[in-house]
Amino acid sequence: MSTGPAVKYDEVNEAKANFDRLYFQPDPREYYRVLCGLDYVIPDLAKGVFRNTVDALEELRGRRIKVLDIGCSYGNNAALLRYPLDIDRLAQRYRDLDGAGLTAEQVAVLDREYYRSWPGRDVEIVGLDVSEPAIDYACNVGLLDAGAAEDLERSPPSARLKEMLQGVDLIVSTGCVGYVTERTFARVLAAIDGPRPWIASFVLRMFTYAPIARALAEQGAFVTEKLDGVTFIQRRFHSQQECTEALAILDQLGIKTAGKEAEGFYHAEFFLSRPRREQAATSLEDLASVTSGRNRRYGSRWQLMGDSVVRFGR
Ligand SMILES: C[S@@+](CC[C@H](N)C(=O)[O-])C[C@H]1O[C@@H](n2cnc3c(N)ncnc32)[C@H](O)[C@@H]1O
Repeated sequence: MSTGPAVKYDEVNEAKANFDRLYFQPDPREYYRVLCGLDYVIPDLAKGVFRNTVDALEELRGRRIKVLDIGCSYGNNAALLRYPLDIDRLAQRYRDLDGAGLTAEQVAVLDREYYRSWPGRDVEIVGLDVSEPAIDYACNVGLLDAGAAEDLERSPPSARLKEMLQGVDLIVSTGCVGYVTERTFARVLAAIDGPRPWIASFVLRMFTYAPIARALAEQGAFVTEKLDGVTFIQRRFHSQQECTEALAILDQLGIKTAGKEAEGFYHAEFFLSRPRREQAATSLEDLASVTSGRNRRYGSRWQLMGDSVVRFGR
């Protein structure tokens, strides 16, 4: 992995709009209202890659997979990984619930039933976040099987968190690197006994991933690959100032922004770290395959349906 110039995470965080207030509400209405108002879309773009990665690990390990979401917030990735949902539908749901003047407790009761009503994928998902209200909500509505509100940037994991981390096969994150650094990843990995997990991270291009990749390599025989030639939109810039400062940082890093951030969006990249001997099992391109043109409108066609029969349809 290349180790180009770097800008300190703190400096980059200064340039980003501060949404801390949204992360500490008792339910996700405000989170979806504000972030989806800025077209925050990265969990939705990540879900296909996370689902494929869980598939690959299930096949490799021959059993149900345990996932840890770092910076899991209200269980957003868990909702999209477990259920056939998309972020627009969730954003609409929370806009509707917001307009209904409900208390946080009432939202949680409705959400528990809502999520339970979807066919769910058989995967265990645990979460780590600094926000106790977000973790409480996600566990309460059943999006997370367990969660811990701890800050591993500041202190080592508690005994309870260490126990929760046992058996984790896959660590995922979206929108969180920058808030967390190599310190959190190193502490999580050091706490996990047994088979080494895979680490799948979507990371804004402003944050240099090399220190995290290095810390992972030091924790065992991890190889980190970046999906080359592909970026994932995270959200629109919040303001002229945020846009200007992000472009300046990217310029400092020598990253070309034409057709990407210059068009008004944060862009993230995908990194996957795996034990060296498991890397050969599935190529990164298979896990994170990109189908250009998928979003165009096409006519009805012959295709393989869910019941493995080729039929004509949309
Ligand atoms: C932009 S949100 C992303 C949430 C979610 N992953 C998503 O994409 O919808 C960033 C999250 O990181 C969490 N966070 C901030 N500092 C953290 C830390 N030191 N350890 C764990 N989580 C942290 C915040 O509380 C917040 O929930």
